[in-house]
Amino acid sequence: MSKLWGGRFTKQTNKLVEEYTASILFDKALAEEDIQGSLAHVKMLGKCGILPEADVEKIRDGLLKVLQRIRRGEAEFSVADEDIHMNIEKQLIDEIGPVGGKLHTGRSRNDQVATDMHLYLRRHVVEFVGLLTSLQEALIEQAKNNLDTIVPGYTHLQRAQPILFAHHLLAYVSMFQRDIERLQDSYKRINMLPLGAGALAGTTFPIDRHFVASELGFDRVYDNSLDAVSDRDFIVEFLAGASLIMTHLSRFCEELVLWSSTEFAFVELDDAFCTGSSIMPQKKNPDVAELVRGKTGRVYGNLVGLLTVLKALPLAYNKDMQEDKEGMFDTVRTLQGALQLFAPMVASMKVNRDRMRQAVNNDFSNATDIADYLVGKGLPFRQAHEVIGKTVLYCIGEGKYLLDLKLEEFLQFSELFDAKIYEVLQPEHVVNARNVFGGTAAPQVQAAIGRAEEANASAIAWVQEYEAKTALKV
Ligand code: ARG
Repeated sequence: MSKLWGGRFTKQTNKLVEEYTASILFDKALAEEDIQGSLAHVKMLGKCGILPEADVEKIRDGLLKVLQRIRRGEAEFSVADEDIHMNIEKQLIDEIGPVGGKLHTGRSRNDQVATDMHLYLRRHVVEFVGLLTSLQEALIEQAKNNLDTIVPGYTHLQRAQPILFAHHLLAYVSMFQRDIERLQDSYKRINMLPLGAGALAGTTFPIDRHFVASELGFDRVYDNSLDAVSDRDFIVEFLAGASLIMTHLSRFCEELVLWSSTEFAFVELDDAFCTGSSIMPQKKNPDVAELVRGKTGRVYGNLVGLLTVLKALPLAYNKDMQEDKEGMFDTVRTLQGALQLFAPMVASMKVNRDRMRQAVNNDFSNATDIADYLVGKGLPFRQAHEVIGKTVLYCIGEGKYLLDLKLEEFLQFSELFDAKIYEVLQPEHVVNARNVFGGTAAPQVQAAIGRAEEANASAIAWVQEYEAKTALKV
């Protein structure tokens, strides 16, 4: 079978070379984008008088037929035709004859493939912002239901200071809000048109790149033709954004795994999001949380993989760049899976308030507050720290917590203590005393929920607007 580029060759391609260099097995995922790009390109060729309207119409109809066949799952892709671009062109020519060969006028696969990647990624970036907003909704809802649930806050995984459980959940809301903003920002650099750069230098045909950009809904046209075909920064940015989302998810996963253990028993994950053991009948394992935590590795791998492919590549296109795809597709799939599961898993999670409260009652996480109390009585903080340290040590020896001590016992350590400390030591008091912007006091957390809801509403509106902009038009 002859190659679309076969003219200069006197020998058949080695079979192994054909298989080794082909990308069709994975880049067929770009079929819709490829046809979308070709439709805009051929329309422009007609508008600029580069092709007669009759040819444009034939090519357009042919492309739509090829698209229908692909959508029905009837298209056959062949490794001999290397990639999705040449497979589609070949099918177009089979469909409408030699006039199909005019589609590639004024274009190269180098600017074509870059355009496809931009079209593909912008659609998924919008999808991911949407998935993140659903996760935010689930987190905000749980936070609202846990505005009076007090839980130990940790540093070094040691009990540190009590906090509202809502406050802990809102920390994740803040992280995912940054992820949303990062994706939205990356969109600016994704939504740019490379087409018209040709192989590297532009084209001799009087094309109109801005027309193609507006047809495809791109906000900008690449300034420099070499950069247009060499740039994969936008994919790196996406992979980096995805890596941070996975970082955040994996931290949350780790906490869910801990919290759902019998030792903590702070939460119970819904049966629908857990699995059992083939041998131990009593087991209910947090597999989803573990697997999301585990899959973080491959997402980081895809980022480092692409950075390494791009490092030290000379301008402009090099075949190495074909390696940009599998990692990107894999990251898109992995992130979709994680985010689709996470929102309902969080929404259906049961919070064991009593158990959390019990934990708070049986710890020293109120120790900072009596130190602060002594400071209020005029003792320098460093001395107050020492006094409370000794008091805690005494408690440990006696098998008691601070609230169990009698006033006489407190007075052994400092005569500044009085009965007010019993109020100061109450977990509610400890929590509500941290009434600074961004702190855990109930009014602050309430206000944070308001801000989170506002930010999420604007992200949801963004998704609606950009879904319409990036939807495939055929
Ligand atoms: N399949 C190729 C890729 O993914 C398309 C571009 C090929 N260009 C070329 N000059 N061989 O990168």
